[in-house]
Amino acid sequence: MSAIDQWVVGDAADTELIDGSTGVVALTASELDAARRTSRLAVSLTDALGSAVPRAARITVRVPEYRGMRLLDLLAWLVVDRLAEPDADVTWLLAKQQGPDSVRKRLAGQGWELAKTKAGRLVALRGRPPATGERPVPREFSVDLGARSGVTMAADYGVFSPDKVDDGTALLLAVALREPPVPTVADIGIGYGALSVGLVLGGVAGAAVGTDVDAIALWLADHNARVNGVDLTVALAADPGAVPPTGLTVCNVPTHIPAADTQVFMRGLAERARHGRLLIVVHASLEARYTRHLAGLGHVDRVAGEHHVVLGTRP
Ligand SMILES: C[S@@+](CC[C@H](N)C(=O)[O-])C[C@H]1O[C@@H](n2cnc3c(N)ncnc32)[C@H](O)[C@@H]1O
Repeated sequence: MSAIDQWVVGDAADTELIDGSTGVVALTASELDAARRTSRLAVSLTDALGSAVPRAARITVRVPEYRGMRLLDLLAWLVVDRLAEPDADVTWLLAKQQGPDSVRKRLAGQGWELAKTKAGRLVALRGRPPATGERPVPREFSVDLGARSGVTMAADYGVFSPDKVDDGTALLLAVALREPPVPTVADIGIGYGALSVGLVLGGVAGAAVGTDVDAIALWLADHNARVNGVDLTVALAADPGAVPPTGLTVCNVPTHIPAADTQVFMRGLAERARHGRLLIVVHASLEARYTRHLAGLGHVDRVAGEHHVVLGTRP
């Protein structure tokens, strides 16, 4: 991999930091797409945590909002264990509302000595990393996934449904577990991987591929697959076509995204449906809206649960 002068972790759009000698660790699919255009090296968080990347003398971390303080432990470990040369110059950038003093205190507890300054409309915490970091253990819970009981799933850092498997996911899993076996299932918007893990452990698929726009979710999915012995390959991408066609595609649809993104997303799912069985789940109140997106694929079958409905198509 090419040498770089600095790493930027997270959303660097408003920091004017990126140049031809910068590496970017993307936390979202859109950050990855932007970084591929502007930086020397663009990797997802999943890749940066999972494989060797070159170290750099300067690191800037733009702390993402709404992911909780525990994410700092993961990012601190990423910096110390993977990205930073010894004695690197590290800057943590965050907005005032993100509680810079609490962040500084939490990092101080891990051996960081950070000076606080203003950086435009952001606050900068700057200093050297400690010599070693501790790999954080994400919060986990135990769940029955269809055929398998007591499956341990890590779910943390603000991902969807962190304390229990979502009711819609559970309904979709129950329906999909009745499908004939396929070599590979695609799990679009995989989150921390409950559907993929449940379907492979349940014998419906030999392996899984998954997409998500959130690299932190993908890192958890990858972790959950590994500890449960599930063969999973993930892609940080907004396009459902980023993983190959499969005999079965499942999706607990992200319904809180902009309408224009929904159009593109559902078009991508419809394209996958031309190659194999498609099963999606949405809240019952949204059934008509999402059935419309599947028009043109022929008959749409449905299984209604208490609050959700699974919609299915066949090629
Ligand atoms: C309702 S959650 C379902 C998560 C997981 N499948 C489950 O059932 O627990 C929807 C997921 O879709 C992701 N997402 C949103 N837009 C996406 C897109 N364009 N492509 C892939 N994933 C997306 C979100 O980050 C979130 O993890």
